[in-house]
Amino acid sequence: MSIKITWLGHSAFKLEAEGHTILLDPFLTGNPLAAAKPEDLNPEIIFLSHAHGDHLGDTVDIAKRTGALVVSNAEICGWLGTHGVENTHGMNTGGGYDFGFVHCKLTVAHHSSSFPDGSYGGNPNGFILTIAGKRLYYAGDTSLFSDMRLIGDQVIDLAFLPIGDNFTMGPEDSLRAINYIRPRSVIPMHYKTWPPIDQDASEWGNAVNNETTAQPIVLDPGASHVLI
Ligand code: NI
Ligand code: MN
Repeated sequence: MSIKITWLGHSAFKLEAEGHTILLDPFLTGNPLAAAKPEDLNPEIIFLSHAHGDHLGDTVDIAKRTGALVVSNAEICGWLGTHGVENTHGMNTGGGYDFGFVHCKLTVAHHSSSFPDGSYGGNPNGFILTIAGKRLYYAGDTSLFSDMRLIGDQVIDLAFLPIGDNFTMGPEDSLRAINYIRPRSVIPMHYKTWPPIDQDASEWGNAVNNETTAQPIVLDPGASHVLI
């Protein structure tokens, strides 16, 4: 069983597995790296890590058009409900739930979370997604934290980690994170979108090869990796 992972720019990804489509943090409108139009995406589930505009993105429009289930924390699901998105599933940190073809557990993320309109977004999260026999860790926006070791104890096939610095961990801390998480492979995110988070991903990839046991997978916006 395999998963096709497509980077849509910033922290937005499309996952396709066993005929199902998932979106992670679908920020496309206003994203200089956006590699898809919101109207061309037809997910069954959208996982949303926190309320910031560069993650919430086009969630409301996509969910309203497709009826996709939006999975996030309780506060975000409540806000979505007042903005016309009724098909939501609220969770909280440490909780897991089986959505049939994918299991999701919310992890801690050290960051903040408020909506573009200023309302409270609850605590930010990451996700551990188990799908097609693989376990993925999507860190969301976060600093490095030592409990990433505990996430690594769950055996991670692939990790999505921010490397942009400034708003999240940067390249150096991401190497320490990789050594805590010990994934088979790692995809960088939350970089290159704007000048404050510009990073050289090929240099980062060399450092991952030299200093960790993980395989770096550096995608261009719109490019895919098939995880086997
Ligand atoms: Ni954020
Ligand atoms: Mn962000």
